[in-house]
Amino acid sequence: RERKMYMACRNDIHRYDAPFMAVYKSLIPAEEELEKQRQLMAQLENLVAKEWPHAKLYLYGSCANSFGFPKSDIDVCLAIEDDDINKSDMLLKLADILESDNLQNVQALTRARVPIVKLMDPVTGISCDICINNVLAVVNTKLLRDYARIDVRLRQLAFIVKHWAKSRKVNETYQGTLSSYAYVLMCIHFLQLRRPPILPCLQEMKPTYSVRVDNIRCSYFDDVGRLDNFGSSNRETIAELVWGFFNYWAYAHDYANTVVSVRTGSILGKREKDWTRRVGNDRHLICIEDPFETSHDLGRVVDKFSIRVLREEFERAAEIMHQDRNPCAKLFEPY
Ligand code: CTP
Ligand code: MG
Repeated sequence: RERKMYMACRNDIHRYDAPFMAVYKSLIPAEEELEKQRQLMAQLENLVAKEWPHAKLYLYGSCANSFGFPKSDIDVCLAIEDDDINKSDMLLKLADILESDNLQNVQALTRARVPIVKLMDPVTGISCDICINNVLAVVNTKLLRDYARIDVRLRQLAFIVKHWAKSRKVNETYQGTLSSYAYVLMCIHFLQLRRPPILPCLQEMKPTYSVRVDNIRCSYFDDVGRLDNFGSSNRETIAELVWGFFNYWAYAHDYANTVVSVRTGSILGKREKDWTRRVGNDRHLICIEDPFETSHDLGRVVDKFSIRVLREEFERAAEIMHQDRNPCAKLFEPY
């Protein structure tokens, strides 16, 4: 493999700030959509409260982490503190309730890796998945949302990266490429490591938020309103950051030996995580540590074929950012 590392960004990079900002703005969901999501959520809360008065409903995923695109489905978690619930029975019961309230396409998928009920609301046109007690996802959704409040460049960069990943078909976990969640963590990590940093490491600061979920202690500094100047001494703009992100994943990341870790705001060795060899289906060819479930490598879906696809796409993107005359169009050309 040819190893290049572009030390300096092209000198006309700022010409591309405005076009990238335009792409970013075009991807922000309209307020009407958020209102419809709230409307559906209120309806679901009502239905659930009648059957399970102690249950709570939480939004998670892209509709709540501030990295959502227009027309996204919504992900909902029903949280209930009851040790002897049977998830399958509860999902089937929930499906019945939803169906008798005129929600459409109701389906209970009780055998899926994460069992869910799917539905479509004919009034708002929104589709929705409901799972039970996936509280870690609710907590990591909050972490992403809190990071997004610190510096707007995270949201800008992550929207561009997600849009690129969807256009180039490298956002498909069932085909061995990465989840949106993984890409957002890669963006957070990248901004933590800028010099001066654009994002802090919230889990290394004095915790102001702490919950225990599935025996995992999740704590971090969440009073992010006090950090809104954090990145201001770094003046890098969106086009430079997009360039830097792809340059890093194309040429600078040490795939053989390292793990990116938002939890520590640093790069860890695969050795210290014992991720040096294949265990079962986990090959650890690209390693992204989950911030709370630290034994979980979000790169574990990547296999020896898809790692090549992924790295070729990073290189293509880096090449475009380095010298294409119209990077903003070329980057998102459909695969
Ligand atoms: N999630 C997780 N662990 C994973 C994948 C996902 O905990 N390995 C949780 C995260 O809370 C994430 C949510 O599931 O926010 C949804 O994941 P994903 O579909 O990857 O991200 P979205 O933000 O919903 O992106 P998209 O716009 O592509 O739907
Ligand atoms: Mg999603």
